[in-house]
Parts: sequence; structure tokens; C-alpha cells
Amino acid sequence: MSSTIPAATADSALAGLSLEQKAGLTSGQDFWTTKEAPGVPSIMLTDGPHGVRKQRAGSDHMGIADSVPATCFPPAVALGSSFDPALLERVGVALGEEARAEGVGVLLGPGINIKRSPLCGRNFEYLSEDPLVSGMLGAALVRGLQSQGVGASLKHFAANNQETDRMRVSADIDERPLREIYLRGFQRVVEEAKPWTVMCSYNRLNGVYTSQNRWLLTSVLRDEWGFDGVVVSDWGAVVDRVAALRAGLDLAMPASNGRADAELVAAVRAGELDESVLDTGAARMIDLVRKASMGADASAGYDAAAHHALAREAAAASIVLLKNDGILPLGRSAPVAVIGELARTPRYQGAGSSLINPTKLESALDEIAALTGSRPAFAAGYSNDGSATAQQTADAVATASAAQTVLLFLGVPAEQESEGFDRDDIELPAAQVELLEAVLAANPRTVVVLSNGGVVRLSGFSERVPAIVEGWLLGQGGGGAIADVLYGVVSPSGRLAETIPVRLEDSPAYLDFPGEHGHVRYGEGLFVGYRWYDARAIDVSYPFGHGLSYTSFEYSDASASVDATGVTVRVGVTNTGSRDGAEVVQVYSEFPGSAVARAARQLSGFAKVMIAAGERREVEVRISRDELAYWDTRASRWMVESGACTLSIGASSRDIRSTVSVEIVGEEVRAPLTAESSIAEVLAHPVAGPLVMQALATGPAAEMMDDPSAMRMMAAAPIGRMIAMAGTVDPAQLEQLLAAANGHAAP
Ligand code: BGC
Repeated sequence: MSSTIPAATADSALAGLSLEQKAGLTSGQDFWTTKEAPGVPSIMLTDGPHGVRKQRAGSDHMGIADSVPATCFPPAVALGSSFDPALLERVGVALGEEARAEGVGVLLGPGINIKRSPLCGRNFEYLSEDPLVSGMLGAALVRGLQSQGVGASLKHFAANNQETDRMRVSADIDERPLREIYLRGFQRVVEEAKPWTVMCSYNRLNGVYTSQNRWLLTSVLRDEWGFDGVVVSDWGAVVDRVAALRAGLDLAMPASNGRADAELVAAVRAGELDESVLDTGAARMIDLVRKASMGADASAGYDAAAHHALAREAAAASIVLLKNDGILPLGRSAPVAVIGELARTPRYQGAGSSLINPTKLESALDEIAALTGSRPAFAAGYSNDGSATAQQTADAVATASAAQTVLLFLGVPAEQESEGFDRDDIELPAAQVELLEAVLAANPRTVVVLSNGGVVRLSGFSERVPAIVEGWLLGQGGGGAIADVLYGVVSPSGRLAETIPVRLEDSPAYLDFPGEHGHVRYGEGLFVGYRWYDARAIDVSYPFGHGLSYTSFEYSDASASVDATGVTVRVGVTNTGSRDGAEVVQVYSEFPGSAVARAARQLSGFAKVMIAAGERREVEVRISRDELAYWDTRASRWMVESGACTLSIGASSRDIRSTVSVEIVGEEVRAPLTAESSIAEVLAHPVAGPLVMQALATGPAAEMMDDPSAMRMMAAAPIGRMIAMAGTVDPAQLEQLLAAANGHAAP
């Protein structure tokens, strides 16, 4: 950034600009910077999200060109499993410090798209299958980042849940799942953390490119949610620049050799685009540049060692101990063998635009040696492309046989998980599965440690190994974090932010992924992730929210109280083991009497709390009234229903420890009665109901009224047509009755 815009002149900056200069502000100067205009300096935007990827030379958005070293924090797949907003805020602060030190004004992240299918190639860059988790964690990261004077870019807005055909496919989503699942997290982050920018996705949403979707970019994002920042395109997402600006897309990235600007200027000159629309986009850009300029500090630096330590801490907090029969934690003097190339050559991030050039990189093998003070026996077992030779297998088996305990590192090869394409399956490489069988036969004390960006199938062996450590992709401090967890320096506290299914075929989107002929239909509707497995009572390998610790927790005395703005749940949690540890208390809501389709259990709040051995803590989880609402398609708004709400408090979606029930006083949505209203709807109406009952009770229909099955049969029939058929009631009388009823209806 060359200079800053003094706040006083920011408002007047627009007035002095020519049409061409204003158009220039709304597109890139090159791959990563915006254009200057008189009084408006250029700013730099870079990826994102789990580190600063500032390219040294060359320009691309797929992580091909080299970038300056930066701390590679754990990617979102790991951070999501931390369930710890405070931790994400700290990571956000560190990202902000590094971005500021590199002169970056906007860091392109976080990505908070919902993990709809385990096959999505970019799931490693997303936080969860649940919008509360992605929203709360995403908001925390944005808060931290922006506290350093660096803007976030919340992406990819919206419904970019697959990579197949991502630049064209239309995500066809019904209104309720769109609002309740796919937009919900974005709404939370926008409302709570006010990101400076939002990045539109590549895909179409219900047929319209998100880059030129006025409903999405203006009606929902700005008018409903109050977003006042800049909407930036994903790199190359703009198809029609004029339509995009009109829809509310302010900044088209990257540069287009002047084409985008020329189109805007021509459209204004031809009278096809009102200049005020361009003024609005340019003014928003000036405001963004002003904010970024205020945060800029040419002398800023950061403490790389402290950031590495934070990366390691965050990685350890994100590891999920899926299974442990007591074999973990290991004693430091226990003779172990480490098997698996991934222990020596870690896979610690995913491929594509988020690729970070780390300041340092730990391997689990080195860190185990450092922690225990001796180099463990090691065999590679396979190569990181997924293949294995007979010699590698034989060496691994021999190494396993000679050891007391085996630490077997398995995972998904980098080539299989990347931005730009989806996975074909959720299997570990066949050579690794064969290795596992051979090692297990040689030594049953085999702990499996996983490295993967999307979930892998564990059924088939998870029952037969004593422990499984889900290590995701953990960033540059992952090796140390794994050692810390294996040896009990840290008690694991990560929880699954996505379900691990028994089979891919069980997963919700299985029959509707990745679509065909340019469309993908979200046929599972609201029932995404655990909502699906729970509604259909499908067995899973490990449920959403699951994760073990080296200590144990007991829940007691759960209670809930309702007030005007929500529900407060309180529960006592006692650490009944002998180690300190963190528990993630989860509260799921259920609406047994709901008139609409609802999830059997929906995460409505959670809290991660550190509890010392033997200590009891009173944990409070606040659930805002908004969390209890569903999207009402008749009224086109959020609606809270009256009635019982069951709150299940537990340690996973399938480990409920306590249940309390509260009565919610909600809102009524009453559609006006018409002649096409059903008899049941009319009878249920407080004004019309009694009057119709009275009329029917004395007329020829009296007999039918006494016959429950006849009444049931007639209940769905439109009242106007029934009356016309019966010919006994004057239609004008019905009209009068309905008008009177509607007059009394709630607004
Ligand atoms: C990705 C974005 C990224 C952008 C810039 C796109 O291909 O989808 O997430 O921020 O490139 O690299």
C-alpha cells in the first residue's frame, strides 16, 4: 500500500473520479491487487485461509507459484474439530499479524461451506457439516483477523459444496435447506463478525450464477443481513460484468486486461447501466481501501516462533481420539515402532489456492524422537503416492513384530484431495489397508494415526485396532501435536465436526452427487450430515460430536430456563478421571410437536471447557431464540413455533447424557382463509372454526361430523368445492364467513 486515504477525504474521493477511474476501482490491477485512483491507493488480497500465501513471483490461484514463508496453521478440517471459538480467534489474530507484516489488506478466508458430501475435494478447507459450528468458528476467526486491521473474505458464497463442474454447476436447493443449512453459517458470520468482504462462489444457485445473483448478493446479504462491505468475485467467477455489478458484486478479480472496466463504461454511456450503481460499487471499494490503509503498518513484523507454537497448540486441540482401549497415552519409555511414510513426510495441508509455504515443518517421527529422547524403529511401509512394494511391506512387518507397540500412520495421498476436483471414494489406498492387515497380524498393539482432509472409511478395521487417532491435516506443527497427544502431553479434546459413515453409500447426498448436465439437486433437503443419519437411524462409524479424552466426564443437574431472547442451559460437568482435560458440552434441540419437518436433533449450542482432574464446573450454554427458528416458506421469514422443545445435552449427537424440556411461546403464522382452504384448516381457525362447526352440526352434514373416519376423509377437501357440491350453503355466506375470519386473523 503506497499511502493511506485520510478519513476526512474518503467521502469526497469518489466525487473527483472519472467514469473510467470509478470502473477501474471495481476490478483488479493484476492477480492480487486492486487499482489505484487519485487519492485511493491499491491494496493486496491474498489467500488464505489457514496462512498467508503471498506470491513472490508469478501469478496463479492454484498454489503453483512460490509464496513467501508463512505459518501454516491447521486447515479448517482440523480447526473445525477443535470446537473452540477462542482458539480460532487467536489463530485469526496471528493470521492478521502475518498478513499485516506482508502488506496484505484482505486475507481470502475463511471458507465456511457446508460439508455436504464426504467426497467434496475441498472439504479440508471447510469447517463442518453443521452451520452452527461453521458459523461460530468462522465468526471467531474473522473477529481475530480483523482485530489486526486486516479484512476477511468470507467464502464461497454460496452453495459451493462440490468441486465437480464448480465453475458452472447449478446447486438446486429448496428454500428451507438453503436458509437453514447452506446460508445459515454465512448469516451468522456476517451479522456477528462483520467481515470486510464476502467472496461469491463460482457456481450457480438455483440456476443463477452467484456472481450475478441479485437476490443472494443484495436482497439477502445486504438488505436482510445488513452486510455493508465489498462483495468480491471468486477468481474468474464473473461471467457478465454488468449483470454482476447490478446484482451487487463490487470487485471482479483478478484483472481482465481492462475488459471488465470497458464493459461497465460502455454500459453507462449507452444508458444501460445507471452510473449510480457504479458509484455504489466504487464507494464500497474506497471504504475497503480506507479500512485496509488504516490497518497497514510498514514496520509490522511477527514472532514466527510464537506462531509456530500456536500452530502446534491448535493442531493438538483439533486431533480427535476416535477410539482408545486404554493403550494411549503411551509412556515415554515404552519401546515403539513407527510405521508409515506419513510419519516421516507429513501431509499437513491440502492442494490448491490455500497452499502455504511453511516457516518450519515438524514430522511426527522427529517429534516422537524429541519427546521420548530416543529414535524409534521406523519402516516406511508405503510411498506417499499410495503404493507399496513387497520389500516395504516385509520391512514394516519385521519392524512391527519386534516392537512392543506400533504407531501406524495411514492417510489419503495428496493427489486425491485438492481444490478443483472431488474424490472418487472415501477409501484409504489399498496398499495401506493391506499393510494394516499385515502389521496387525504381526502385532495387535497397533495404534492407527490418520492424515486426511476428508473422512475415510474406517469400518472393516476400526473394531480390530486398539486405538485410532484422527490427525486430519494439521498444519506445520502437526507432527509435534501428534506426539503430544500420543504421549499424553496434551489430553485430546477434538470432536468430530462431521460424521464418519460406515459406508459412503449411507451418506446423505450419495444419490445426488455430483449431479448431471450442469445441475446438482440437493435431494436430501434439510437432512445433511448427522441430521440424515439420525433421522434414518443409520449406524455410523463415529458420530458427529464424538471424540475421546484421556480423562472422563460426568454430567449432572441439567436445567434450562427460557427468557424473551432464548434459552440458557446449565449442566454440572465433573472431571472424574485423574488428568486435566477439556470437554465439549453439546446441546441438541428437538421439537416433538413441530408442524414442519425438523431434524431429530439439531445442534443448538456448545461450549468447550477445560476442567481440572476431580473438579466440577457449572457449564452454561446460551441458545439464542433465533437458533430455535425454522424458515417459514409461507411467510418468507424465520419463525419460532410454540410448544415443547427438548434439549438433549451430551458428548456427541449419539451420546446424550441428560435431557430437559422447555415450553416455547412462539409466533403463529396463519395464512388467510380462502374457499380453497381445507375443511381441517377452516375448523382449526379460532374464528371460522366454531362458526363452521355450528353450521355443519345442524345441517345435512351433521351425520358426517359424528363419524371420525368420514371427517378424516373430508378434512383435506377445499371448503368452497365441498359447499358447491353439497349445494346446501350459499357461497356468498361462505365468503362472508371467511372475510370475517380473516379480519380477525393475526397480521
Ligand atoms: C478459489 C478461492 C481463492 C481464489 C484465489 C479460487 O480458485 O476458489 O478460494 O481464494 O482462487 O486464489
